[in-house]
Amino acid sequence: MTELVATEIRGKIGIIRLNRPPVNALGQALRSAVAEAHLRLDADPAVAAILLTGTGRFFSAGADITEFSGGRRHPYLTELIAQLENGTSSVIAVANGMAFGGGFELILGCDYLYVLPEATLAFPEIKLGNIPGAGGTQKLPRLIGGPRALGLILSGDPITAQEAVSLGIADRLVADLDAAVAFATDAVAAGLPRRRIRDRNVPGHPDELAAAAAPFLRRARGALATAKGIEGVRMAYDTPIDEGLLWEQQTFAALNASPESKAQRHIFFAERAARKIADLPADTPKRRLATAGVVGAGTMGAGIAMCMANAGIPVILVEQDQGRLDTGLARIRRTYEEALGKGRISSAEAEARLGRISGSVDMQALADADLVVEAVFEAMEVKRAVFTRLDAICKPGAILATNTSTLDVNEIAAATGRPQDVIGLHFFSPAHVMKLLEVVRAETTAPEVIATAMDLGQRIGKIPVLVGVCDGFAGNRMFINFNREAQILIENGALPWQIDRVLTDWGLAMGPLSVMDLAGLDIGYAIRKERAARRKPSDPYPFTTADRLAEAGRLGQKTGRGWYLYPENARRGLPDPEVEALIEAVSREKGITRRPVSDEEILHRCLWQLVNTGCQILEEGIAQRASDLDVIFVNGYGFPRPRGGPMFFAELTGFDRVAAEVERFAAEVGDHWRPSALLLEAARTGRLDAAA
Ligand code: NAI
Repeated sequence: MTELVATEIRGKIGIIRLNRPPVNALGQALRSAVAEAHLRLDADPAVAAILLTGTGRFFSAGADITEFSGGRRHPYLTELIAQLENGTSSVIAVANGMAFGGGFELILGCDYLYVLPEATLAFPEIKLGNIPGAGGTQKLPRLIGGPRALGLILSGDPITAQEAVSLGIADRLVADLDAAVAFATDAVAAGLPRRRIRDRNVPGHPDELAAAAAPFLRRARGALATAKGIEGVRMAYDTPIDEGLLWEQQTFAALNASPESKAQRHIFFAERAARKIADLPADTPKRRLATAGVVGAGTMGAGIAMCMANAGIPVILVEQDQGRLDTGLARIRRTYEEALGKGRISSAEAEARLGRISGSVDMQALADADLVVEAVFEAMEVKRAVFTRLDAICKPGAILATNTSTLDVNEIAAATGRPQDVIGLHFFSPAHVMKLLEVVRAETTAPEVIATAMDLGQRIGKIPVLVGVCDGFAGNRMFINFNREAQILIENGALPWQIDRVLTDWGLAMGPLSVMDLAGLDIGYAIRKERAARRKPSDPYPFTTADRLAEAGRLGQKTGRGWYLYPENARRGLPDPEVEALIEAVSREKGITRRPVSDEEILHRCLWQLVNTGCQILEEGIAQRASDLDVIFVNGYGFPRPRGGPMFFAELTGFDRVAAEVERFAAEVGDHWRPSALLLEAARTGRLDAAA
């Protein structure tokens, strides 16, 4: 085993190098090794100052979050930091790479900071529903003032070495460790004084904080960690440091135990777990993927082309005729111009991205593409025709992908003589923005095609989740049942505005009725008509009111009226007595006696539909693990991260309780509530993946 820290002495400078691959996570063993090395060098009369640095790309990624759920062991990070502060020698941190969270706090316990050009600093705790817990909220304001400190603590975003110097966090930029040692040697010769951040006062006045906090409060929508971050920085102004540090530690522990932090840690690990494919060895070869093609330059095709171009992959966009191609390319250009206008990308970057996208009305142009993504109209005969052509045109080994959201990928694959090369890449709209990518594995898809597609997903900045073929795959199959339940609730006695309020209060960005108004009621109406023939007579059909609204031309926001009223294009709808009357009339026609529906019933019926359907999906092997379904909902359907996704929420609630309610709904509401065998099993064992 390699040493956890390497120490050496150069001249009068003692060096401690953290050396715990891969990220120098500050677990107990590393903390203990650093404490021991510091003690030794600090006691050495030949050492005048101590340099603390990391290895490779990391200074330290911070706490070892696998330790969060177990008991902590000494020395705590706070104790290690106090030891550095209470030692005799000045400690100079040399940030060689990423210094995140506890790594950054270790730096704030040092007297000085030198940064290498590759260094980045961040407090990502907020992204896991927490605040820095080892001095960050108390010391950073003392170093750079409250408003700037707040920006770092509440955004969680990293800053570069140069920014660290400009903000006054770092004392100097150095080329490498040798340069750092040389500067330290000179500084010692000039009588380098101790300079503990903890001894300083926060510059400025606490009143300055309100303006800095406002945008974060708006976005956080009541998230506890944001409020606590602000409270902590506010305290730094006038609370003795030890009192502030104690408050911070206690708050960190309390937030760590909160459901919202647990949920965010769950999603953090779930997103990493989603990359692993059980039956695919890690050494599965991947195909070369240097160029791409997209068929169809509509809403999705244009977005998918941008995903490729943004990741540096040249892409050819193919349309049926020049007019539609020009429209698609113009849409792409407009998107880049908007990004440029908002300062999100530079003009050089916009040009480079645009330059990677070319267009053609001849499918033959795709002959050399390593990957082709089809995004034409959602009709089997159209898709099959496109795949038959692609089979004839594309080079051997090219990956042929479909962006279908509802059609059978096996059937599409069978339209080619190379079904092993066919896979689903289900992007979400807008494709260049949404993080989720459902990678749909057909029965015949080759392992290396799956591995390449998962890899591509990451390369283009998506979160790829592997699913199998079924109607709606994982996400839409669950979501359709969620939406259907909202409609049944309306027939039972709830009103659209009650349902939307309950779900947005819970944390959804928008309720299902507002979403229908935004998308346009004609869209769902057309899909329902198209699918009418395939509907089983036993399936509930609670869309009568929605159909009537669409037939009356109440199409939602775009017509100023839908489920809600939108006077003068207001984006938030107002309840409409006419809609209420229509709902009541439909219930009467169907012989339904309307009853008051509680908020809890609304919440649980919508969410447990997701959970019960999710369990069926797991049972059928369509998804690999319950947490993948959470990743899908958080990244593709606007589910709140601080809730951790529907399956996690069910686990927190208790699968036994969920199953009991599902059984009750099956008896009282309808047969579509029949509990999945897997859910019943989880109710017994308390765990879903153990049951799967
Ligand atoms: P769209 O109607 O905006 O675009 C389809 C485009 O394909 C049209 O521009 C059309 O001219 C072109 N096209 C049709 N046949 C063609 C052919 N033989 N060769 C070249 N181009 C052809 O449709 P949208 O919304 O972009 O959907 C495309 C696919 O993506 C569908 O399968 C849809 O189910 C799927 N999808 C759509 C999502 C959405 O939110 N719109 C989300 C996820 C998937």
